Amino acid sequence: MPDNRLVECIDADPNQTLYQAIRRGRAKGVRAEVANGETLLAAVAEASKRAGLIVIDLEGTANQAMLYACGKANLVLIPAQPSLFDVVEAMKTHAVVEQAADLTRREITTRVVLSRTPVLRQRVVEHSRKQFAERGLPMLSTELMERTAFRLMTYTGTPPWEDDPEGGAAGNVTALGDEVAALLGWTDNG
Ligand SMILES: Nc1ncnc2c1ncn2[C@@H]1O[C@H](COP(=O)(O)OP(=O)(O)OP(=O)(O)O)[C@@H](O)[C@H]1O
Ligand SMILES: [Mg+2]
Repeated sequence: MPDNRLVECIDADPNQTLYQAIRRGRAKGVRAEVANGETLLAAVAEASKRAGLIVIDLEGTANQAMLYACGKANLVLIPAQPSLFDVVEAMKTHAVVEQAADLTRREITTRVVLSRTPVLRQRVVEHSRKQFAERGLPMLSTELMERTAFRLMTYTGTPPWEDDPEGGAAGNVTALGDEVAALLGWTDNG
């Protein structure tokens, strides 16, 4: 039986930034490994035996790994910054999700998550939300804010809830986690 307290991250981005950050920070209960288009499905199968949550990080461009990952996913998160470039890129990723849904004959829950949004409310963010809505891309209501704590994490690997549990970045991560948990149908008692 997989352990629901364990998270396994499969980094399928050749840059391997997620893998390196996790190895550096050694967050409790989080494991990381790398994979590519050839090895991804086997990696997912192995990780499923161990961990209750598997996170797959992909490079931004459509490839075999992306199609496989979407085909296996209970939830696909498409990060996007508030810009037109990101709207266009998110649309391309969404098209891959639809191909995977077609191949696997099932619905795949997908959400765009706005990332690096300014802490002070700015009009471009509302504009960007409107653009995604017009294109029929559902979004998480939580945004990942532009925060130094997230930059710092790339050096230390230490998550914000360990570095500064009461800080804004930690609160931001909790809100995001809660929304994701709800989408996955998780409850506090199991
Ligand atoms: N919420 C944030 N607040 C502050 N800095 C951020 C935030 N998100 C990302 N960054 C910074 O932006 C850079 C790129 O972030 P990240 O690697 O997450 O982007 P990406 O879209 O996954 O890029 P790639 O396509 O190369 O995988 C990193 O240097 C990171 O420090
Ligand atoms: Mg990345």
